[in-house]
Amino acid sequence: MSTSPTPRARLLVVDDDADMLRLLSMRLGSAGYQVTAVGSAEAALAQLEIERPQLVLSDVRLPGRDGLALFDEVRARHPSLPVILLTAHGTIPDAVEATARGVFGYLTKPYDAKELLEKIAQALALAAPSLPSRQADEAWRAEIVSRSSRMADLLAEARLVARSDASVLLRGDSGTGKEVLARAIHKASARANKPFVAVNCGAIPEALLESELFGHVKGAFTDAVSNHKGLFQAADGGTLLLDEIGDMPPALQVKLLRVLQERAVRPLGSSQSIPVDVRIVSATHRDLEAAMADGQFREDLYYRLNVVTLHLPTLAERREDIPLLANHFLARLSAKYGKRSSGFAPEALKALTMAAWPGNVRQLYNVVEQVCALNTTPLVPLALVQRALRTPSVEVLSLAEARQRFERAYLVDLLKMTDGHVADAARLAQRNRTEFYRLLQKHELTPGLFKSDGLHGDDDGAVAES
Ligand SMILES: Nc1ncnc2c1ncn2[C@@H]1O[C@H](COP(=O)(O)OP(=O)(O)OP(=O)(O)O)[C@@H](O)[C@H]1O
Ligand SMILES: [Mg+2]
Repeated sequence: MSTSPTPRARLLVVDDDADMLRLLSMRLGSAGYQVTAVGSAEAALAQLEIERPQLVLSDVRLPGRDGLALFDEVRARHPSLPVILLTAHGTIPDAVEATARGVFGYLTKPYDAKELLEKIAQALALAAPSLPSRQADEAWRAEIVSRSSRMADLLAEARLVARSDASVLLRGDSGTGKEVLARAIHKASARANKPFVAVNCGAIPEALLESELFGHVKGAFTDAVSNHKGLFQAADGGTLLLDEIGDMPPALQVKLLRVLQERAVRPLGSSQSIPVDVRIVSATHRDLEAAMADGQFREDLYYRLNVVTLHLPTLAERREDIPLLANHFLARLSAKYGKRSSGFAPEALKALTMAAWPGNVRQLYNVVEQVCALNTTPLVPLALVQRALRTPSVEVLSLAEARQRFERAYLVDLLKMTDGHVADAARLAQRNRTEFYRLLQKHELTPGLFKSDGLHGDDDGAVAES
């Protein structure tokens, strides 16, 4: 294991002793780390909300919450973030207990600088196995734009599981980025140079899905004019994304389970099994537990697919990512549409950041696409963003407003039908003329305007002033 520091890894250092804190920061800074120094566990937790470091180094004895309590919080919120504790001389039992709880390591004060740097390097290397350079380090997740600590945590976990062959279940609402994450996991895995194959289990009819997944031999069914390799074989050595796994028909769930257990597929109509080596990533926005309770999803398959679950947060749970994503999409789409939009006006960005985003990142992309197509100025103005955010289908009118709109449209129709003849229109509406005039007046409708000769004035008299 290499003990050279991961280039510019960020460390969060916690100590209530200001001198100690300064000394630690200097040492670690000159060893090539970026250091964020805070004086209490509470400040550390606040800092973690803003930015996820690669490691936490904390004193055990702190005012308020102590270092162990801080560790427990960190473990709960950021399971893959390593924590090293500094304990005063003579409190070893504490330290032993801490290690048992999952603290990466402890050092007694006064600490040995060399030992400290080694411990940090070890922890970093374990949390993020070393790669030649920072750039290569990040290449696997190049498609995923984020700065929130929620996403940083998720990505750290994704990267750890990517190295194993464990089946991963990706959960999260529609448009949160399950497919991009699946691709990133593939790229971060040892299978990166082998195929990544995605199949949407919900979009393919049951009869076809089986032969898509497992293949068929010539003559297996009427249209099977030649042998056909299934997606399992196409993904051999690589990764297969079973998207919308919650939509897989029960009969196929049984067959899928058998393939996963036997690590071999038998194409339709064939009597031979073909071994396949495929890493399974599945994704769903459905509540699989509820589907299992309803008997719609097999429990045994669930446990096989769900060795590790990664849950994508909704966009509303990571609003700090919105400006970054919006600008990223704008740059990409401006290039695509040959536009020169260089950014959003500050109020426009604020409106984006505060919107509800039920459709998550995909919806954000669509909104940016719409404003980009319509924009004619260097900075996208607020008005365009507001317009794109207001999807007509979700516009809800008050009953009074809806009634008003209907009434007006109805009256206009009647006047058109009767060529602006109020007596006829009133008769059709089964209202007396006085009442009908009052309605026209309310909507400021002038019957004369509806005469087909286009001339104003009529024998019934224009009723509206303006
Ligand atoms: N963090 C991100 N950075 C950049 N683009 C993203 C990110 N997350 C999602 N996207 C983009 O948003 C769109 C939706 O993402 P994706 O298809 O992965 O979502 P999904 O969770 O699979 O949605 P669904 O459940 O509807 O299938 C895609 O165009 C994807 O490229
Ligand atoms: Mg998807």
